[in-house]
This record gives sequence, C-alpha cells and structure tokens, in this order.
Amino acid sequence: MADVYTNPEKHVVLHNNVKLPVLGLGTSHNGGYSHEAVVYALKNCGYRHIDTAKRYGCETYIAQAIKASGVPREEIFLATKCWPADYGAATTREAFNGSCQRLGTDYLDMYLLHWPDVPSGVKDKKKLLQDTWRTLEVLLDEERARVIGVSNFLEHHLETIMDECSVVPQVNQCEFHPYNNPKKLRAYCAERNIQFEGYCPLGNGQILNEPQIQEIADVHNKSPAQVLIRWNLQRRVVCIPKSTKEHRVKENAEVFNFVLTDENMARLDNMAQNLTIMDPSSIQAKIDNPLPDGYKLNIINVPAEP
Ligand SMILES: NC(=O)c1ccc[n+]([C@@H]2O[C@H](COP(=O)([O-])OP(=O)(O)OC[C@H]3O[C@@H](n4cnc5c(N)ncnc54)[C@H](OP(=O)(O)O)[C@@H]3O)[C@@H](O)[C@H]2O)c1
Repeated sequence: MADVYTNPEKHVVLHNNVKLPVLGLGTSHNGGYSHEAVVYALKNCGYRHIDTAKRYGCETYIAQAIKASGVPREEIFLATKCWPADYGAATTREAFNGSCQRLGTDYLDMYLLHWPDVPSGVKDKKKLLQDTWRTLEVLLDEERARVIGVSNFLEHHLETIMDECSVVPQVNQCEFHPYNNPKKLRAYCAERNIQFEGYCPLGNGQILNEPQIQEIADVHNKSPAQVLIRWNLQRRVVCIPKSTKEHRVKENAEVFNFVLTDENMARLDNMAQNLTIMDPSSIQAKIDNPLPDGYKLNIINVPAEP
C-alpha cells in the first residue's frame, strides 16, 4: 500500500480527524477522460485520491478504473460533487445516491457542493443552500460521507452556511495557481479550520511555459508542473492535477523528493493575479440551461464491460 496515510507529508488531517491525501488525481470532461491514465495512477504511481463530479460525466468510468487497478476501495479517497441543479433536501440525497451507484460504492470519502449558485428561479436562495447543507450533515451523520465540504465558495457564501450549520465545511475547493491565489480567502478558511483545496494547479496547462516558473524548475532539475504542484504541497493546499497521459500522471506524482526554497516560494506567492480559468459568471447559465452531465466528454480507451 502507498504510504499516503502514514507519511504526514502526504496527507492533511481535517477537523474531524479524517486524513485527506494532499495529492489527488483530477478528472473531468474538459480535456477528456483516460481510463488507462486513472488505472496507471492508482496501480503504478501511488495516487490514493480521485477528484470527480457528477457534472463531469465520468463517475461510471472511474468505478471501472478502480476495479481494473486492483486497489481496494477502502484505500482510495473518493471525492465527488453535487451540481446546483440538484440542490434541495430530497434531490441532494438522490444525487448523492446516484453518484454512489455510478462510482460503485455505498459511501463517499468526500461530497462537495460544486458551486454556491442556485437555479435562478429559486426565491429563497439562502434557505436552499442551508437545506442542502443540512442534507450533507445528515449524510455525514449516517456515515455515508466521511467528509463534507464546498467548492468555489467565497467568504460570504461560507457565512451563509455557517450561520445555520452544525458542521462547519471541512474543505473548500477553489481555483488555485500562482496567477490566481486568493490569499484572503485562504486565510479566512485557515482561521476556521476549513481545509483549502486547489483546482487547476497547472492553470489548465496554460502556465507551464511561463519563464518565471521554468526558471525555478531548471534550478531544481524538475518540470514546471512539478514546481507548481510542489508549491501547493508546501503551502499545505490539497492539489488535484489532471492528465490523460500516463507519463505526466507519473511526473505529477514525483513531487516528494525536492524542496522549493523560501525565495522560490515567495516568488510563486507574489505573481500577477491575471488568470481565471473558471469564470464564476459563466456558471449561472450552465445551471439554468443544463447540458447533459459529461457533455462532449471525450472518452479515451475505456474497455467494454465483460
Ligand atoms: N471544483 C471545480 O469547480 C473545478 C473546476 C475545474 C477543475 N476542477 C478539478 O481540478 C482538476 C484539475 O484541473 P484542470 O484539469 O482544469 O487543470 P490542471 O490540472 O491545472 O491542468 C490540466 C492540463 O494540463 C496538462 N498537463 C497535466 N500534467 C502535465 C504535465 N506534467 N506537463 C504538461 N502538461 C500537463 C493536461 O493535458 P494532458 O491531459 O494532455 O496531459 C491538461 O491539459 C480537474 O480535473 C477537476 O478534478 C474542479
């Protein structure tokens, strides 16, 4: 078994004492889904955390990849997300059960609210978010979910939940790379023991040729992707890079054998804040006029079920 849960560098401990592997494998419809890359990550590279979402449309394929990898379910930290069109007490539970069914499991390691937005027809948005959160608290209580959290929540969205909740969100997953580093939000989360998790750590592949990052990579004889992931780990931000290529999945996991200097870290901490991959203003339309989950998902090499 990988040493993910025994080596303190490789996991963070949440406020309910659950160990969350600090490096996970991203999956999504954006850029395609590769069965072989997921199997390889689990079997050959020691990944024990997979991030997905109902919205990405690949939960069924992930179940197949877990089975093919031979890694026992209980070793894998499996995280998925509830899409806002499913918010509401009964509908969230249905969405949770649907995700479990597609993922071939009867419990989830982590269930996140995907965005703070709700369908625009909803009159009392605050109440809908609070009712939805309450459902997650019940799922936690029933031990169907080991960790509950949110994604893309700013301070005021977190306040909405915390006004009424009995369990403070354990995780907030947001965009995080040197060109989009929400320092105030991170500090706010840290003060409340909400673990910050970053998505698009490689800026969706768009920042790998930046000379400043390349320069740091050259000094350490590492790749720009490894430098970006290492920066997350040294800031204790949970990091979920995605790749559909086996050699990059491997490269992205080889980040525990070098250390960025304080000067490297400070440089990466203070870059121009000029790149947003996920534009929050584009989300409402996606909630109100939903395309099918996994719309245009490019499936690469998923074998037919026997
Ligand atoms: N909560 C949310 O709202 C939200 C939003 C966006 C993403 N996410 C999560 O975050 C994960 C990661 O985000 P992301 O996929 O947008 O971006 P990312 O991990 O920052 O970058 C992925 C891109 O970088 C390329 N890449 C990966 N490793 C590489 C390497 N070592 N060298 C060169 N290129 C490399 C990939 O191409 P190849 O596939 O060709 O290697 C892909 O195009 C997603 O999979 C998802 O799980 C969550």
